[in-house]
Amino acid sequence: MTRKIDIFDTTLRDGEQSPGASMNTEEKLVIARELLRMNVDVIEAGFPISSPGDFESVRRIAELAGDDAVVCGLTRAIEKDIDVAADALKYAKRPRIHTGIGVSPSHLADKLRIDEDTCVERAVAAVKYAKRYVEDVQFYAEDAGRSDYDFLVRVIQAVVDAGATVVNIPDTTGYSLPEEFGARIAYLMANVRGIENVTVSVHCHNDLGMATALALAGVRNGATQVECTINGLGERAGNTAMEEVVMGIRMHEAELDAHTGINTREFTKASRLVSSITGMGVQANKAIVGANAFAHSSGIHQDGVLKKRDTYEIIDPADVGAGASQIVLTARSGHAALKHRLEELGYAFEGAELDKLYEAFLNMADKKKEVYDEDLESLVNERGREEDALYVLKGVQVSCGFPLKPTATVTLADPEGAEVTVCEYGTGPIDAVYKAVDRIVKVSNDLSEFSVSSVTRGIDALGEVTVRVKAANGEVFTGRGADGDIIVSSTKAYLNALNRLLAGKR
Ligand code: KIV
Ligand code: ZN
Repeated sequence: MTRKIDIFDTTLRDGEQSPGASMNTEEKLVIARELLRMNVDVIEAGFPISSPGDFESVRRIAELAGDDAVVCGLTRAIEKDIDVAADALKYAKRPRIHTGIGVSPSHLADKLRIDEDTCVERAVAAVKYAKRYVEDVQFYAEDAGRSDYDFLVRVIQAVVDAGATVVNIPDTTGYSLPEEFGARIAYLMANVRGIENVTVSVHCHNDLGMATALALAGVRNGATQVECTINGLGERAGNTAMEEVVMGIRMHEAELDAHTGINTREFTKASRLVSSITGMGVQANKAIVGANAFAHSSGIHQDGVLKKRDTYEIIDPADVGAGASQIVLTARSGHAALKHRLEELGYAFEGAELDKLYEAFLNMADKKKEVYDEDLESLVNERGREEDALYVLKGVQVSCGFPLKPTATVTLADPEGAEVTVCEYGTGPIDAVYKAVDRIVKVSNDLSEFSVSSVTRGIDALGEVTVRVKAANGEVFTGRGADGDIIVSSTKAYLNALNRLLAGKR
């Protein structure tokens, strides 16, 4: 059995420190419920002395969690902070006070303006003071990532001797390289007496984009608790993202000798929840929970994934609560991806038919970034319409604008296959096109309806035009056409209606 790694979630404390991400108590409770569903081991619910709101959130989350998770409140190494945190945690079934102090040369000299001895004294005093309230006391050595190795050993030894149950080694500024941070943890494991009796925690920031790698390096070298946030929310560039570190551990369980108890199927939901409550969007290419995390765009990748998912996908999307893998149809997609998607939509195309459709698809994909299901459906319908057509559209061009006279040039292939081109003026470009079509097709009719709608979303959406024409005998024929160019869809729609009228006449 591999080592169990505790997941300490700090979305509600460090995550909330992210500029613009502040949450009210009700919102924090919603997230806390989700964290409990995910089965996190520890919830850092806030910094009680920082505001009445934080105090209230810690108090209410402590009540909510009951036995299901440890609930933790942050403090500085100051008695008043610890008193207030203890008060907020008064009704917690499993309370933890998280106290600590800066330990790097920069924090000692420039922030705290104290020497090393004073730092150790304050650290020990804070742990002992917190122990008067709760058994479970976690100590953080702020900016440990930039601290002197031997001074760090000295501080951690002192707080372990003072009764700390958990020692948190943060890379507060996200400065370290993973190997170096791992070596720091290994050094503590080798040099602090009794460290095997406490939990070693890692808390990493993402200033160099390495927060997850740092946390995993910590785990590899002896840490058994990881501090993290949903979506990697947190101060500046954020904290280790829970979904990344947990999936990293799951994918490499044997090498890391580690597992977690997290219900990973909640990840996508939790990510959306946190993003909608905080208003902090998730980048599309974000690992695990980004919109594109399971989307395959290139033809080669799509072909591989369709043959066997794991050719290009290391995680089953269902394992993180994401929908099925997505095949995004673009100009780079191949026959296999198009055929597969069409089959999912209920169409079976093979051989030459598929080739024809693929050609039309490529034409469309060249003009659009992405081809959606609705686009494909209209493409299939379009082909059906062309199949029975007596007159086939070969080209249409308009010139219009102020003060030009709207003019259209239309080329159609007639039922014998001969191409005919005519030019016409009109009151508007579509009127000009329809007059030109009339001159070639020569069938009397009355245009009784014309409507345009967008088939898909975005500026490059297909426009679908529907027209109704009334034949001389009063019979009404409907025509449809879809294209990225509204003039082309209008022409196709009109021609489709006239072709049907002529076929009906026949
Ligand atoms: O980054 C950090 O060092 C912290 C501590 C308060 C744990 O958030
Ligand atoms: Zn932090």
